[in-house]
Amino acid sequence: MTESLIQLPTAGESVIDTFDRMIRTGPIVPYELPGGVRAWMAVSHQAVGEVLAGDGTLFSKNAKNCPVMHDGTVPADWPLRVLTDADHLLNKDGADHMRMRRAIARAFTPVRVAQLQPRIQRLTDDLIDRFADLPEVDLVEHFTMPLPVGVICELFGVPADDQSKFRGWTATLVSHTSTGEQTQAAMQEMAGYLTGLVSDKHGNPGDDLTSDLVRAQTEHGLADAELVEMLWIIIVAGHETTMHLLGNAVVALSANPDQLAAAKDGDRWADVVEETLRYRNAACAMFNRYALSDVQIAGVDIPAGAIVGWYAGVGRDPRKHSDADVFDIDRDHSDQLAFGRGPHFCLGAHLARLESRIALATLFGRFPQLRLACDPAEIPYAPQFMTNGPLCVPVQLQTLG
Ligand code: HEM
Repeated sequence: MTESLIQLPTAGESVIDTFDRMIRTGPIVPYELPGGVRAWMAVSHQAVGEVLAGDGTLFSKNAKNCPVMHDGTVPADWPLRVLTDADHLLNKDGADHMRMRRAIARAFTPVRVAQLQPRIQRLTDDLIDRFADLPEVDLVEHFTMPLPVGVICELFGVPADDQSKFRGWTATLVSHTSTGEQTQAAMQEMAGYLTGLVSDKHGNPGDDLTSDLVRAQTEHGLADAELVEMLWIIIVAGHETTMHLLGNAVVALSANPDQLAAAKDGDRWADVVEETLRYRNAACAMFNRYALSDVQIAGVDIPAGAIVGWYAGVGRDPRKHSDADVFDIDRDHSDQLAFGRGPHFCLGAHLARLESRIALATLFGRFPQLRLACDPAEIPYAPQFMTNGPLCVPVQLQTLG
């Protein structure tokens, strides 16, 4: 590796542009994480497929299998450690991963998720009712953020008054401007809150998924601490990404009125969601896997112990889509990798898809003339590279009624 390694993030460049640059460099490229930590990123469709096919055999998700994480190369206060060293399903392999995943997976099957439709529709309508009379509104503050936070928190029995705390903790955890001290403090506060929630559900179980998990603890051999780890990753992953998917979709549709018209005319919101996941995925750098031995990915030699990531926005690979920068809801999305593949395939994919379809269909149904209130180039994006989405989306509602 040389001094000219691509840095993630690169100062003064959007995360999408940095990834586009990586894609032009090769199928899997060396790069630097914050703090100068060296790693590899799979960015071609083929390389990502190979990395994901190697889960549990070529690659581990457990940082214990990465020497540089423990020999002093990566410092103890590295801000991303709260994510790499966490003891939840996303960082586990094999039987231990399956044990945790099985404990919760049945709540997120297509059938169970479909049953959530009325609740999601109610939350969507309630949020829209609150701003429907305003001429202009920031959709992130009033809609794309509170909706996914509300859905996932309500599912897990987090009281309404406490829900906004998760947004603050999550923003600190995923921001590359946070220090190690800040991410650790956010993590401790969130874990403290969830420990209290679990303890409360032991005494007063209710009709929510935290209570279901507490009831199934013995069956799945889940300690309270493991439950807390599982809760935070699901609540964080369960809103951060969906929030940005919605923001990215509104911006892309506003910039492509023909696509918006086609979506409205044909009720094509499912296609809008798939194309947004391909064109500007809310999930970006899935940065922590570890090579268990020397391995070749897309013909490139990766050394044992390397930190290997993959780009969840890999739908932008021009080797896969020659016109990758065109937003086109008519595309074939059958080979979508936006939610991953294999044992760690996104637990919440069905929920994210349903929630986004309902949100977009309802929003554009209620406000047929909705349009951006600023130039798309003026929209600020969150300072992070694990996920990507707008910090605010000001729109004019111009309701007909
Ligand atoms: C736009 C929305 C979403 C996107 C793009 C997305 C993307 C992803 C991706 C790419 C992975 C695989 C990570 C890897 O292989 O390293 C993943 C895993 C995961 N996602 Fe999502 N996600 C979304 C929404 C959600 C929601 C709503 C939930 C809530 C249930 C959720 C919970 C999880 C969990 C718990 C995992 C880890 C699964 C495991 O390790 O077995 N995600 N997600």
